Amino acid sequence: CGIVGFVGREEAAPILLDGLSRLEYRGYDSAGIAVYGEAEGLQVVKAKGRLQVLNDLVQGGKTVHGTLGLGHTRWATHGEPSDVNSHPQVSENGRFAVVHNGIIENYVELREFLQSEGVRFVSQTDTEVVAQLLEYYYDGDILDAVVKMLGRIQGAYALGIVCADCPDRLIAARKDSPLILGYGDGAHYLASDVTALIKYTREVCYLDDGEIAELTADHLWVYDAYLRPVEKERHHVDWEISAAEKGGYEHFMAKEIMEQPKAFRDTIFPRIQQGRVVLDDLQIGREELEGLDKLYIIACGSSYHVGVAAKYTLERLLRKPVEVTLASEFRYCEPIVTERTMALVISQSGETIDTLAAMREAKRLGARVLSIVNVVGSTIARESDDVLYTWAGPEIAVATTKAYSTQLALIYLIGLYFADLLGTISREEYGRIVDELLLIPTKLEQILENRKDIQYFASIYFNHPSVFFIGRNIDYAVGLEGSLKLKEISYIHSEAYAAGELKHGTISLIEPGTLVVALAGYSQLFEKTMSNVVEVKSRGADVLGLTVASKAEDMAKTTDHTIVIPDTHPMLLPSLEVVPMQLFAYYVALQRGCDIDKPRNLAKSVTVE
Ligand code: G6P
Repeated sequence: CGIVGFVGREEAAPILLDGLSRLEYRGYDSAGIAVYGEAEGLQVVKAKGRLQVLNDLVQGGKTVHGTLGLGHTRWATHGEPSDVNSHPQVSENGRFAVVHNGIIENYVELREFLQSEGVRFVSQTDTEVVAQLLEYYYDGDILDAVVKMLGRIQGAYALGIVCADCPDRLIAARKDSPLILGYGDGAHYLASDVTALIKYTREVCYLDDGEIAELTADHLWVYDAYLRPVEKERHHVDWEISAAEKGGYEHFMAKEIMEQPKAFRDTIFPRIQQGRVVLDDLQIGREELEGLDKLYIIACGSSYHVGVAAKYTLERLLRKPVEVTLASEFRYCEPIVTERTMALVISQSGETIDTLAAMREAKRLGARVLSIVNVVGSTIARESDDVLYTWAGPEIAVATTKAYSTQLALIYLIGLYFADLLGTISREEYGRIVDELLLIPTKLEQILENRKDIQYFASIYFNHPSVFFIGRNIDYAVGLEGSLKLKEISYIHSEAYAAGELKHGTISLIEPGTLVVALAGYSQLFEKTMSNVVEVKSRGADVLGLTVASKAEDMAKTTDHTIVIPDTHPMLLPSLEVVPMQLFAYYVALQRGCDIDKPRNLAKSVTVE
């Protein structure tokens, strides 16, 4: 979900709607705003569906007046998407309006308690209990009511609160769900994500867990849970507003795919100096590195797929065991973590709650945490022992592309840097990989120039109901991501399989006309993968192959169509292979008329477990 808040001297509604338009990728089941106007009082407008529905309802903000308000765009957890379940949620007498990200875990119990006290509920949401509790505890002092309410609720929350009795201020509170405060000129802002603010201000501070903020047009106070004042450090945000706009592309996803050469360059070039990887931001030294007996990679979704590729890369380079775990599983599998474990946490947003919770658990068990994060100042970044930022800029499309690519880029840098410290790589091999790494952006540009070929393949295959991605080793890791991209945005059922594993069951699903995307860039295993391609071909599958230029002719003897990428060092292959996979998913979804940037049921940043 996304939250935005404004208090100042201008009309709030257009600012809230604009902020929400930049947050819509965080959830788009419903949207709402609450604005306080001197003459109008508290006006709450909300609607199921896309932000546009709300926008039309309030005529772009023209029908609601006032200089203070809150907005919300929702990814439903508790309570189906509907007008009544949309945020803001309002207390029974209309005094409090609340927007909320997260989940109030004990809301059933609280709801029963309040009902027994005679409070009437109108929605099925957990958020309504927050509004009703505020009213229940309110006796003229809003902060006092907030503290009492926070004392009762359990779970995760980022909260924005307006009270009709104190119409000059917004209240915010946070636990385990991000909230950012923005400093303006005679105005203050709050938002769950910095992209909602950069049009208005670059000066921000990050609310920490347990903190409460009070914002008026001229002042901003932050308190701890006992209302003791807290001094916040101000941060300057560098992101350009243009980076959060489509810039002539039909979709953010297309724009972000095309931005990958630049994002890759920005992430690696400043960190390679005179042929050596320089990671000044890392504190960890040789001795500690030598003492590590294991690396645990923790992530979700596409970031997890980077982890799968990273396992192959890092084990090869560091000669240390690397385990990759889905963050949502990590906490519940009794992970073997000690002081000699490094947890490598990968997250674009830096706010995915599953990943954050797993990271905290790893830390508690003694691991040293190194994170790879895109959003500066995000919770995962701030709580890690070491953080390396991907310099991809804001990523808006729900399906990640440039964040995936830059995460991979950092994996190579970490691998090289650690291997050098550990002495597990020869000087020649190190030099070879660095040289190749520097060529990747140019090779990405070549692949993107040939995107019409992929569009053509998509036009042939877009109607296939079921697709299998096969590959071995790092080709398999890329297959996982290719398959996810396709199902996320085109809604075609697809599976990724290690090519050698297919015959152990899944091959029974191959029938005439099934599409198999065969990745065989990894030359050492080319013949082996091609044997598996022959197996599916002989059962009638249509095969779209992907390989490097030096193997293209060989592959084309068996496949129906072949995507060709430039040769590179085998370790770096995923960076080149993933781009045709992203393009393929994009063009298939385009052919099928799907809502590419906002696929159904998804959200970009999931801050609930
Ligand atoms: C969501 C998104 C995925 C993303 C995953 C992890 O589920 O829909 O595309 O890969 O979260 O996000 P993160 O920000 O932690 O990388």
